[in-house]
Amino acid sequence: MLEVLRSGVLTQGERTRAFERAFALAMGAELGVATANGSVALYLALLAHGIGPGDEVITSPLTFIATANAIAHTGATPVFADVDDTLNLSCEAAARLIGSRTKAIVLVHLHGNPGDVRALARLAEERGLALIQDACQAVGATVGGRPLGAFGTAVYSFYATKNITTGEGGMVITSDAKVARTCARLRHQAYADEPYLHDAIAYNFRLTEMQAAIGLVQLGKLDAITERRRQNAEYYAANVSRWFERPRVDPDHRHVYHQYTLRVPSGWSRDEVRSQLRTRGVETGVYYPVPVHFQPPYRVLHNAPCPVAESAARDMISVPVHPAVTHDERVAVASELNGIAATALWT
Ligand SMILES: Cc1ncc(COP(=O)(O)O)c(C=O)c1O
Repeated sequence: MLEVLRSGVLTQGERTRAFERAFALAMGAELGVATANGSVALYLALLAHGIGPGDEVITSPLTFIATANAIAHTGATPVFADVDDTLNLSCEAAARLIGSRTKAIVLVHLHGNPGDVRALARLAEERGLALIQDACQAVGATVGGRPLGAFGTAVYSFYATKNITTGEGGMVITSDAKVARTCARLRHQAYADEPYLHDAIAYNFRLTEMQAAIGLVQLGKLDAITERRRQNAEYYAANVSRWFERPRVDPDHRHVYHQYTLRVPSGWSRDEVRSQLRTRGVETGVYYPVPVHFQPPYRVLHNAPCPVAESAARDMISVPVHPAVTHDERVAVASELNGIAATALWT
């Protein structure tokens, strides 16, 4: 950071290019385009894949609203297909919703658990659609040993709570030079070959050199951060009562545990479970309590029901899994959850 400040090159410099190269390589792709945040990275990726007004884009309703907003900002309509028991987009549900206006599928890797990118890439190819991965929560996740970028364009976020962070920031990674070029051009006001000549109405979606410097250091810590998250998750997997079901993780999918999510059994009150945990010092989160097709701006679409996503939105809770959770803390979290399960079973 200090080197950047002293150099006087505060944006669009060597650090950003180095971060793009290193991050793309680590995520399994050839090219990276760093952006101001993950939301605009997704928006640029959609534009670069030719998505625009009149098109439909199939995605999961169990995601942060930014996924749908990026689609809507292109002028396309998001169509929400249900998730499966991994809580990621179901390939069968997506296939059923493909129509004449469908142009793309956005696969969200929720909570860091990779979705079925192989099946969806096959489906997209067969039906002539673009597949874009919203990997904002899944930095470092792999499928069959391959990073997600090996399966096509993917978008990441470096928001403050993400597995690695630059405070705010994002990146499109791709091995398609045309996609990368379009994203880079639109990110920077569509400069043409001559100075101050612009060949499109574009944007300022740039990342700063200070953020890129932080990103490079964070990337160097990614393996250690992921390992800590996975150890915490393994502890919960082995020690938290099986009354709390977990989303399925496919055998060769490497989950990076942006969140560790449990399902509160039906008949129990999630609010009550959360409030009991809170009084015992354990904070939980719900990501996300309202599926996107029920959010006010998207209700008007009258999307078909997505029963699996809707029930997950009612019963999910996420417990602390971040790298700073100590062994004593994870023991306490597991024991509080088990205490709740034991009392619930007795009453
Ligand atoms: C699934 C998902 N998509 C998109 C985004 C948007 O990223 P950002 O907050 O960096 O704009 C986020 C993170 O916030 C996210 O979790």
